[in-house]
Amino acid sequence: MFDLDLIKSVYSGLAGKIEKSKKTLNRPMTYAEKILYAHLYETQELDAFKRGADYVDFAPDRVAMQDATAQMALLQFMNSGKNTTAVPSTVHCDHLIQAQVEGKTDLNVAQNANKEVFDFLESVSNKYGIGFWKPGAGIIHQVVLENYAFPGGMMIGTDSHTPNAGGLGMVAIGVGGADAVDVMAGMPWELKMPKLIGVKLTGKLNGWSAPKDIILKVAGILTVKGGTGAIIEYFGEGARSLSATGKGTICNMGAEVGATTSLFAFDESMARYLKATGREEVAELANDMKEYLKADPEVYENPEVYYNELIEINLSELTPHVNGPFTPDRATPISEMGKTARESGWPLNVSVGLIGSCTNSSYEDISRAASIAKQAVDKGLKVKSEFTITPGSEQVRYTIERDGFISTFENMGGKVFANACGPCIGQWARPGADKQEKNTIVHSFNRNFSKRADGNPNTHAFVTSPELVTALAIAGTLDFNPVTDSLINEKGEQVKLDPPTGFELPSNGFAVEDAGYQEPAEDGSKVEVNVAPDSNRLQLLSPFKAWDGKNIEGAKLLIKALGKCTTDHISMAGPWLRFRGHLDNISNNMLIGAVNAFNSETNSIKNQLTGEYDQVPKVQRKYKEKGTSTVVVGDHNYGEGSSREHAAMEPRHLGVRAVIVKSFARIHETNLKKQGMLALTFVNEEDYDLIQEDDTFNFTDLVGFAPGKNLHIEVIHSDGAKDMIEVSHTYNAQQIEWFKAGSALNLIRKQNN
Ligand code: F3S
Repeated sequence: MFDLDLIKSVYSGLAGKIEKSKKTLNRPMTYAEKILYAHLYETQELDAFKRGADYVDFAPDRVAMQDATAQMALLQFMNSGKNTTAVPSTVHCDHLIQAQVEGKTDLNVAQNANKEVFDFLESVSNKYGIGFWKPGAGIIHQVVLENYAFPGGMMIGTDSHTPNAGGLGMVAIGVGGADAVDVMAGMPWELKMPKLIGVKLTGKLNGWSAPKDIILKVAGILTVKGGTGAIIEYFGEGARSLSATGKGTICNMGAEVGATTSLFAFDESMARYLKATGREEVAELANDMKEYLKADPEVYENPEVYYNELIEINLSELTPHVNGPFTPDRATPISEMGKTARESGWPLNVSVGLIGSCTNSSYEDISRAASIAKQAVDKGLKVKSEFTITPGSEQVRYTIERDGFISTFENMGGKVFANACGPCIGQWARPGADKQEKNTIVHSFNRNFSKRADGNPNTHAFVTSPELVTALAIAGTLDFNPVTDSLINEKGEQVKLDPPTGFELPSNGFAVEDAGYQEPAEDGSKVEVNVAPDSNRLQLLSPFKAWDGKNIEGAKLLIKALGKCTTDHISMAGPWLRFRGHLDNISNNMLIGAVNAFNSETNSIKNQLTGEYDQVPKVQRKYKEKGTSTVVVGDHNYGEGSSREHAAMEPRHLGVRAVIVKSFARIHETNLKKQGMLALTFVNEEDYDLIQEDDTFNFTDLVGFAPGKNLHIEVIHSDGAKDMIEVSHTYNAQQIEWFKAGSALNLIRKQNN
């Protein structure tokens, strides 16, 4: 499955590129820098890029997509005119499977409920040379770690926990679907050169402490925003003492501090994992390159000079942590949990313990948790809480079943869910959750925001290691500290749980009967992609119309948004996610969360054609019917939030021509440009105040649209008065071509024909 030729070609250029970059930087390099500089896009000139400031074009080696985000990405890719993706890519069906009864039953239900989406993803993958991982094959990040991640590589994935692959020394970054389309279509992928946070790990974990405790501790130090715009690089003897999968857990949860990604340098544990997962050659190739797969020695000697921020953690002193509730950065050592929980009024009774997910379902995790579960049975303890296991992949599930761990969990009353995201992403049909009762759950996942697991805002979710989840589920109470406390067994005896023991890797090797992978067709040209015309979840995209070369005239104001207008206000999530593969249906949420500056209401705007107030998408559809162009006006940082491409595609689809704001969130601005929209900024911010509810816009000099040249728009008010406003833009020559062609994809298609 893995692409050895790709890895060979990356490694063949690595040394040369790194040496050249080092000369340009004129200083030693960190490991993350080596990977970044070795992956500059062919047209990107090498320079000493300023961290946190310069935008740089990169060429990632791979793309991975999960089933929810892949839909719109692939629908767009189909319009690129390419026969295959420019880089190896994979699709993973993991988000659309609900956890309710148990693995097999739930998988069958999901396969029926989402059949058309899975069939679509399968056929598109087959046609365009994309590896397809069927429902039940596993969770994207675990499958990527087992099959594709490699030291020194760079990948993007359409899921925020893509950094999990940093456990195998890769720069792996979570992105939106639009970025995946760019890379699959062979375009450059832009990123602001990240800052670097160094985490030096000394000592060695012992007793109940696990790799999870390292990231729980880091989250407590950095908080949920502390890693924003930065790559976290772990190093030191403590780092080398961790398994590759343990490293993966730490990198995975770097997303919880907002980090761009996290990674570890190549070492023996990575080589062991590569060998155990059938990639002996990759381990050898990496070993030959090892001096390039870590930072330069001077960096490790004086880390404070080369990282923007430095954190030191002594693993020998690190105690088990439990983070939460409602935020992953509220870190409490287990020894203080009872007191803190009582003082805070958190329910002490643990209703459910959940282990597994993309974060913590390695063989090591499961074997250590099983060593605790076994003790419950052996020592005659009655397990107080419900207990569930969500394996990360079929390979892990099959192997842990073979090695008896699943029956160990079943003996203590555990239930195994499908190899999918399930409770980790709110796909947990938890009985009674609708009653919204206050309760506590403890899990080994990564996120614990309100409603994340079961939709109940009163569920207090705590994040910890799988071994501690198991101990807390046995005890049934949050104030149990297995390091010091004992429990009473069914015979009335006091017993203590011994610290967990486990295996880094299975001594009999990994095994699997059907990993759930489907190789794409050699020649996909004959493969048909079927989308039912009456489907309400999927819709093939028609290319957007090219610019007619004329000034936009008579455009009506659709909405002047007041204050914060994030991508969530522009394209809401929640129930709308069901339609993310159907542009017309999801467009019914366009801007419904934006506040109308004229009446301070959401989703109520004036239709200038009738004078009546109605919902934003409805009014816009009326304008579209009449062939009337529209303009959206916004405040500061318009489009902040996620990289959701729907927020740019929906206005484009419904006929909005321009978005004029005080300032843009950069990613949304780029997304608008890619979809062929005009993303413009007031030169004088006060002009925002000039815009009235009944305004009409006439562009006066769009025909001369050029880089660095401001545009002028005549604004006609309802009383006939006129104002001329000046707007600036950041389009470069290439991006102006996107606008002219109707979208970036239209241009690529033209170039491919
Ligand atoms: Fe994400 Fe969890 Fe799935 S973090 S990939 S939802 S298992």
